[in-house]
Amino acid sequence: MQSAEIRKRFIAFFEKRDHAIIPSASLVPENDPTVLFNTAGMQPLVPYLMGEAHPQGSKLANAQKCVRTQDIDEVGDKTHDTFFEMLGNWSLGDYFKKDAITWSFEFLTNKDEGLGLDVSRLYVTVFEGDDDAPRDEESADIWKSLGIPEHRIYYKGKEDNWWSPGDNGPCGPDSEMFYDVTEEGLGDLTPEEFNAADDRQDVIEVLNDVFMEYEKKDGKVVGKLEQKNVDTGAGLERLTMVLQKKDSIFDTDLFDYLMEHFSFIEDVRARRIVVDHLRTSIFIIADGVKPGKQDREYVLRRLLRRMFLHVRLNLEGDVKKVFKEAIEKVIENYKEPYPNLTEADAIVMIILEEQKKFESNLNAGLKRFNEFTGSISAKDAFTLFATYGFPFEMVL
Ligand code: ALA
Repeated sequence: MQSAEIRKRFIAFFEKRDHAIIPSASLVPENDPTVLFNTAGMQPLVPYLMGEAHPQGSKLANAQKCVRTQDIDEVGDKTHDTFFEMLGNWSLGDYFKKDAITWSFEFLTNKDEGLGLDVSRLYVTVFEGDDDAPRDEESADIWKSLGIPEHRIYYKGKEDNWWSPGDNGPCGPDSEMFYDVTEEGLGDLTPEEFNAADDRQDVIEVLNDVFMEYEKKDGKVVGKLEQKNVDTGAGLERLTMVLQKKDSIFDTDLFDYLMEHFSFIEDVRARRIVVDHLRTSIFIIADGVKPGKQDREYVLRRLLRRMFLHVRLNLEGDVKKVFKEAIEKVIENYKEPYPNLTEADAIVMIILEEQKKFESNLNAGLKRFNEFTGSISAKDAFTLFATYGFPFEMVL
């Protein structure tokens, strides 16, 4: 199943179940000054999860653009990326566990309206309970009534089965769904075997239902919210990887054409970094951010410069042409779901301007570099990094 079809099916599934389909908010948060980018589908909805009435009602769904950079050093493995789309459906004080879990299950397993995943490869986790909230037997019972055997339902603590966007705001226990992606099939797993399969990525988390009825202040759960909400999320990239039976998100149709475009970069990790950072940068720029010295502008600059470096080390040809064509391909791939992606030309211009600056800084940095004798100290590395915009991996 193509990624566009997965996105479409998710939206159609929840539209049919009376959810208003809202557009993706900008990557630049409007309601939350504590984060540089939206990192989850629920982030633009925080005021409504806290009780404000949403103009489009109490049942919402969408595909939301997200950027998470805390795992940026992991990009290059099979599953990490800095931009991703989160498919989400929300109840703002409307339905709760029964409908949320039933719909998640139907969406994952129904062949006609959903993804047609094999029920015998599903495992779920629920919250084991603590001083803040009780053991979630209610969710476990719903899962059992849908046909998930008791021994494939695992109880876990806050570290695994509690979700909050930060130290303040709505939060709650969650129930996560995992899918067995091994060829032979794992069958029944003890809790220890399940954890080991999770570590090996033989089971992949495909959906998360958060039951947001609690509030956090300064990192502590302080009590219940006025309303019981549901916040679900599924990363499109991971879902696509599972559905397309690929070994990494970079082999799915969300990335494969770009991996092909940059095939002159032989090192696969470097190539993945380039395609990830390019896609993320395009979306950030399309939401009005330019590379610069502070905050989200600086994040963009770092993404771009890391990407330029890897391309520069591998390409002697026409850098401008390579980027122009790649950007056009990304825009072509995404312009239907995200019509705000502006003209490719404007994005190309911003990226190439930054590339020029990077080149001249790089040359100045290299000159300095040659003046150092012996091995480079951490302080000098930092000077190069901070003053000349060298990515650390270049100088360490
Ligand atoms: N907000 C939840 C998550 O990001 C659904 O996993």
